[in-house]
Amino acid sequence: MDTARKVIKCKAAVAWEVGKPLAIEEVEVEPPKVHEVRIKIIATGICRTDDHVIKGALEGIDFPVILGHEGAGIIESVGEGVTDLKPGDKVIPLCIPQCGRCSSCLNPNTNCCLKTHLIESQNLMPDKTSRFSCKGKIVYHFLWTSTFSEYTVVPVDAVAKIDDGAPMDKACLFGCGFSTGYGAAINTAKVDPGSTCAVFGLGGIGLSTIIGCKSAGASRIIGIDINKSKFEKAKQFGATECINPEDFTKPIQEVIVEMTNGGVHYSFECIGNTDTMKAALESCHLGYGTSVIIGEAPSAAQISFSPLMLFTGRTWKGSIFGGWKSKESVPRLVTDYMKNKFNLDGLVSHTLPFVQINEGFDLLRSGKSIRTILMF
Ligand code: APR
Ligand code: ZN
Ligand code: ZN
Repeated sequence: MDTARKVIKCKAAVAWEVGKPLAIEEVEVEPPKVHEVRIKIIATGICRTDDHVIKGALEGIDFPVILGHEGAGIIESVGEGVTDLKPGDKVIPLCIPQCGRCSSCLNPNTNCCLKTHLIESQNLMPDKTSRFSCKGKIVYHFLWTSTFSEYTVVPVDAVAKIDDGAPMDKACLFGCGFSTGYGAAINTAKVDPGSTCAVFGLGGIGLSTIIGCKSAGASRIIGIDINKSKFEKAKQFGATECINPEDFTKPIQEVIVEMTNGGVHYSFECIGNTDTMKAALESCHLGYGTSVIIGEAPSAAQISFSPLMLFTGRTWKGSIFGGWKSKESVPRLVTDYMKNKFNLDGLVSHTLPFVQINEGFDLLRSGKSIRTILMF
C-alpha cells in the first residue's frame, strides 16, 4: 500500500500528563512537510532522560507528548525538498540536530547545534505545528525524535542515514546512550593512553564512557556506583576496579584522590546529580585533572563550589551527545561498530515488545536494567 502523503494510524506510547504511566494509543501521524521525513521505527531504547520527563524534572516539555529519543528505523516517505534521504533508507533520529548553518554547526569545536531543545523547544516541528494527534487532540513531539511511536516525523537536520546492514536493535543505541558516553571520553575529555579515569554512575552512559576510556588506552578506570550489581558489567567493559561510596566513611572524592596519589586525570559524571558532579570534580587532580559533566541535572538545579577548585588548574567541562556533530558522525560510528571497532552489545540488558514499554521503565527505575530495547 502506498502510504506516502497519507495520514498513518499506528501505535504509540502517549504521556498524557506528568507522573502517569504511558498509554498505548492509536495515533494519527501526518505526512512529512517540507524538509521533513516520516520514519517507521523498528527499535527504540529507554533512556533516563525520558523518565525525567515523565517525572516532571525537565522544564519546557508540553503534554500530551510522545517521548523516546533513542531509536532506529526506516524512511517511509519524504517531504518536499528532501534530497539526501529516500524511502527505504535505514536511519537514526538525532536528539541533537546538526543543521549545518548555525554558529555552532559552522564552528569545528562544538556540536551543540542551536536547533537543540536546550536553546529552542523541539515540541513542535520547525513550522510550529505537530504531526501527531490522538482522540482529536494535538500530541506534542519530543526532541524532534518521538521514537515511542511506530511512525514519527523528523526534520532532516535531525536524521542520520546509516549502513544498510546495521542491526536495528543495536543501532538505536547510537541515538543517545552509546554515542554520548563514548564521545565524552574520546572527544570531550580526549583521554590519553596510560591515563587514569573515574566514571561516576555505571548505567548505559557510564558504561559507554568506560568503553571510550578503554579504547583511548586509559590504564586505570575506576567505576563508582551505589548499586554494586553494576560492577560486574563495568569490569567486562573495562573498569579496572569498582567502588561503592556507601562502603566508605569519608567522601568518595577523598578515597579516589588517595587511591590515585593526588587524583585522576579524567573524571566523568554519568548520573545527573549535583553532589556527584562536585565529587567528580574534586576527584580529578588539582593541577592537570579534567572533569566532564555528562549526566543531565534537573532543570532547576544549581551548584555552588569553591573557585579554588578551578584556580589550581583543573578543567571542568560539559559534554552533550558526546561532542559528536550528529548527522555526519553517527553514520561513521555505526560503520565503525560494524567493523568491530568497539562492542556495545552488552549494553542491551533487556528486549521487550513495544507494548510492554511501562515494564521497561519499571526495570530502569528498579536499577535492574542497563538498556531495555523495545521492538515494534
Ligand atoms: N552515587 C553513585 N552512583 C549513583 C548515585 C550516586 N549518588 N546515584 C545514582 N547512581 C548510579 C545508579 O545506581 C545507576 O547505576 O548511577 C547510575 C545511573 O545510570 P542510569 O540511571 O541507568 O542512567 P543513564 O541512562 O546511564 O544516564 C545517566 O545521563 O543522559 C543522562 O539523563 C541521563 O542524567 C542521566 C545520566
Ligand atoms: Zn538519552
Ligand atoms: Zn546548527
